[in-house]
Amino acid sequence: MQKILVRNLQPGMITAEDIYAINGQLIVPKKVILSDSTIEKLTSFAIYSIRVEDEMSAVTPPARQQDSYVDRIKANPDFAAFRSRFEKNVDTLRIGMNRIVDLNSNMDAENLLSQTLSLIESSKGSSISLMDMLLGMREFDDSTYAHCISVSMICNILAGWLNMNENDRVLATSCGLFADIGKTRIPEAILTKAGPLSKTEFIAIKRHPIDGYNILDKAGLPEEVKNAALMHHEKNDGSGYPYGFTGDKISRFAKLVTVADIYDAMTSPRAYREPFCPFDVIDQFEEEGFEKYDADIILTFLRNISNSFIGQRVRLSNGLEGEVIFIHPENLSRPTIKCGDKFIDLTQYKNAKIVSVI
Ligand SMILES: [Fe+2]
Ligand SMILES: [Fe+2]
Repeated sequence: MQKILVRNLQPGMITAEDIYAINGQLIVPKKVILSDSTIEKLTSFAIYSIRVEDEMSAVTPPARQQDSYVDRIKANPDFAAFRSRFEKNVDTLRIGMNRIVDLNSNMDAENLLSQTLSLIESSKGSSISLMDMLLGMREFDDSTYAHCISVSMICNILAGWLNMNENDRVLATSCGLFADIGKTRIPEAILTKAGPLSKTEFIAIKRHPIDGYNILDKAGLPEEVKNAALMHHEKNDGSGYPYGFTGDKISRFAKLVTVADIYDAMTSPRAYREPFCPFDVIDQFEEEGFEKYDADIILTFLRNISNSFIGQRVRLSNGLEGEVIFIHPENLSRPTIKCGDKFIDLTQYKNAKIVSVI
């Protein structure tokens, strides 16, 4: 084991200790193979040095491409302002949610929601979309609280795509913000565990919808918000938890949170994996989507997400790079790509897929 300055870390080194931020938040657990993004995360938390194993990993995570799509978002001046407001919002939410769990006191839900709504409002008129701002934020904070704010904002955007009225849009934002409040009762060590969960740990995770419902019930939140917390892990075909409800029993707001929640979790980096490329997430939703999720919600979401990548450069699994020029309505994860003077229609050319947006 050796102590090493964060600025001298290299991808492939393995952490020999859990690394915490000043506020006690676990940033990177022990035994994680460092990648460019984990090193960047340690730097952003102003960690000076850490202990690493003497041996490097035999598998070195691929170096992140410089000047990628996300790097360009992060370099935009509007992003810095958004990031600072987002981080303040995370702190307020952390204090607000923990107060109710630790002290059993009343939660000022109204105030927490209005802060998130004003962050959404302030991002309007920026040169980058809110969805892209969130993509840029994911490397900096993967805490439950950052996830709650991110899901809440995706719910707000999705409610707009679904043409919901202003009241329902605010309600959807609130549903997203508080859906995971029950997670504040799960020990941090389980939430951030890098390896597979034991049966008991999985049972603890599966309790959070019911705990969330009870917390929100006590705090006097609207029925829709409580039910979204209770049902956001249920699936249309009855394969979800905690009750295995089928589509007709799951509230529309909960169905909306489900989609936002999965998209946010999959496109966020985890201690044990890099984030999924948005097209991989779209592919996975297309694979299982129509049985497990609400057809109207999932189609609206995927159409809008995939269309937002028209004109973007992407890298394919065969090493070629090109520009997304056409999204096929019947197969959203496999668009047509213009590579030089060639057009590759991924619905026909099944040997390659999009691996990253660059
Ligand atoms: Fe959840
Ligand atoms: Fe979640």
